[in-house]
Amino acid sequence: MATVISAGTAFDTTETARIITALKQDGYAHLGAVLEQDEVEALRDAVVRKSQDPRILADHEGDHIRGISLMRMFEYDNAFRDLIVRDPFVSLAEAVLGDDCHVMAQNALIYGEGQGGGWHVDDALQFPLPAETKSHDAACGPPCLVMQIFTPLTDMDTNAGCTQVVPGSHLSGRRPDAGDAPSFMGQEPISLDAKAGEAYVFNNQIWHQGAKNQSTSPRILGGVTYSRRFVAQRFYPFVDYQMPAHVWEGASPRLQRLLGRHEKGAYG
Ligand SMILES: [Fe+2]
Repeated sequence: MATVISAGTAFDTTETARIITALKQDGYAHLGAVLEQDEVEALRDAVVRKSQDPRILADHEGDHIRGISLMRMFEYDNAFRDLIVRDPFVSLAEAVLGDDCHVMAQNALIYGEGQGGGWHVDDALQFPLPAETKSHDAACGPPCLVMQIFTPLTDMDTNAGCTQVVPGSHLSGRRPDAGDAPSFMGQEPISLDAKAGEAYVFNNQIWHQGAKNQSTSPRILGGVTYSRRFVAQRFYPFVDYQMPAHVWEGASPRLQRLLGRHEKGAYG
């Protein structure tokens, strides 16, 4: 399967340090324009095809979450598979999560008209705090274990909706209260407006939501969820998952490791 995804270029040490500091203090960072137009089109086309694929539509259990999320995009189209090793994403992931990090998941999101909303942290609350403790200390706070990179594949704005985050809330040690606009230590939600091809990254513990799509066009996002090696990969149906043979075809050693073909470690 041919791919249009380029190798890209890693951030230099100064920019990498800026992003790592932002992730520690704010829990997120904007990465600016990254993808070329043909890359955006290939990724967007894959999401649209998968969302309309009769085989996928017949298997909601296996390939959908909440009607907006399409799982394991790397096995559906090589553009998504190769996005995993596209720079600056992969080098940034290794700088934050270690040289043995891997892909925890790769879900694409497609929000139809009226879909979106709901503040949350992704999956487990990793470092809960007692009620009397307001925050972790940013200077020596918990490490980032799971890092989400999103690449909008359609323009995101107030009308189409976009990802919103509460800066610093990855240090809160709690989940956001129900409501439209949670705040943490005086920080209100901000909107990560982004054009197709731009990218941003966040610690999966930050309070965030995909705002409601108030347009009539779908809002589409691709990306990669990277995690530290010891955080289990989430490839449904988990222990019964079999990586399809075509995913390995032409995959570099680095890509194979990111897909989970690891060296032996302390537990095996
Ligand atoms: Fe989320």
